[in-house]
Amino acid sequence: MEDKSDIGLIGLAIMGANLALNMERNGYQVSVYNHTPERTRKFMEKEGRNKNFVDTYTPQQFVDSLERPRKIFLMIKAGEPVDLMIDILYPLLDYGDLIVDGGNSYYKDTKRRCDFLKNKGRLFIGCGVSGGAEGALWGPSMMPGGMIEGWPLVKNIFQKISAKAPDGSPCCQWIGPDGAGHFVKMVHNGIEYGDMQLIAESYFLLKKLFGYNNSQMSRIFKEWNEGKLSSYLIEITSSILEFKELNNEYLIDSILDTAGQKGTGRWSVESAMEMGVPLSVIATAQFERDLSAHKDERVDLSYTYPRQIEAIKGNEAHVNDLMNALYASKLISYAQGFSLLRKASQDNNWNLDYGAIASIWRAGCIIRSVFLDRIKDAYHYNPELKNLLEDLFFINEIKASMASWKNIVATAIKHEMPVSAHSSALNYFYGITSESLPTNLIQAQRDYFGSHMFERTDSPRGQFFHVDWNTTKQ
Ligand code: 6PG
Repeated sequence: MEDKSDIGLIGLAIMGANLALNMERNGYQVSVYNHTPERTRKFMEKEGRNKNFVDTYTPQQFVDSLERPRKIFLMIKAGEPVDLMIDILYPLLDYGDLIVDGGNSYYKDTKRRCDFLKNKGRLFIGCGVSGGAEGALWGPSMMPGGMIEGWPLVKNIFQKISAKAPDGSPCCQWIGPDGAGHFVKMVHNGIEYGDMQLIAESYFLLKKLFGYNNSQMSRIFKEWNEGKLSSYLIEITSSILEFKELNNEYLIDSILDTAGQKGTGRWSVESAMEMGVPLSVIATAQFERDLSAHKDERVDLSYTYPRQIEAIKGNEAHVNDLMNALYASKLISYAQGFSLLRKASQDNNWNLDYGAIASIWRAGCIIRSVFLDRIKDAYHYNPELKNLLEDLFFINEIKASMASWKNIVATAIKHEMPVSAHSSALNYFYGITSESLPTNLIQAQRDYFGSHMFERTDSPRGQFFHVDWNTTKQ
């Protein structure tokens, strides 16, 4: 009889298949199962051929092929399919067996599944996996959270298959209880939305305002990738801009400008709203995707409000300003993302280690960048940072970028170019660093029409006042 497998993987679409190949390449015997048997057969004939995989065709056969305590990695569509699979699996499993959900699941679902499986005596981990298909194959960034009793069962496997940061440390660390792993992955994706929107706005300014062509822009992004903006998303932007089709035309110019989405950005914004965290850059990125999808409406309105962008001939100083503006805006987006993590950690008693999170995002994942090293250092010096903007390194970076940042936003607005994420970041900066805001007027209005009360600057916090606005007027 064949040996039992170290781990089992369910779901052989591209991400699941690549993760299975990654595990096998790292020395593990992997049982595989897919809802459609044809996919399993194909996998065994092609990618899995002559490798240490055990193909199975029923859930029972799959479960029976695993070494105990069993470790099962689900790489299936988030949502209902995960619940359906759990319902099939848990009666076939024994006390102490572990199910890991590696999809982009909603963190509250992960908490619910932890509670459910705990009651059944099974272990459950919700593990964010980032890095796309390549990452899954060669080393993703992994964010496991849930029932910590399950962690020792998979720690070695996960840390072995995950990406390694430049200092050699694995991009996979225990994140925290219940939905913490999936929450952190969700915020990763939100930050990904913010980065992508900021890069897209920069691309458009280079193109429409400063008049650069695709090949010049590709070179600019390549140069940016050598410096403080060095990151996967900047790197691929450079490659995208120089990609030509067989007809020698740039593909980027033929791609329709309506963004798709699978929901993690929206969840980040919803969570931030629930928790009262101003996640304005990511929210802007989310709304810009939504706006982009209204293509017909945009086309119609573009005839109603025609405008000719008055281009400026771009030079090195413009490009340098733009690089600084993108950098400062990105910094704000990450500061907001980490503030959301902080609030979620406080509200849920997750005890998140922000430095460790920055650390496991340094390689493997979509937002990987040299910048994350700086964030890791910031939390290393002060794990209690309320806002990344309090860190000395970032204080200096913001101050150094300020003139460029204002210049780019002001110039873009003056020339009628949309720069929502850049200006949202700058406005957040102005707001969060303002000792006083016009919100006294909002409080007065609320009290005027709804007796909602207000606090006074000349009284202790927590004391609320109401006036009869009609009788007190002079
Ligand atoms: C990752 C990506 C991954 C995926 C997103 C894309 O970390 O590997 O974030 O999770 O590419 O689902 O999300 P949208 O379709 O919402 O842009």
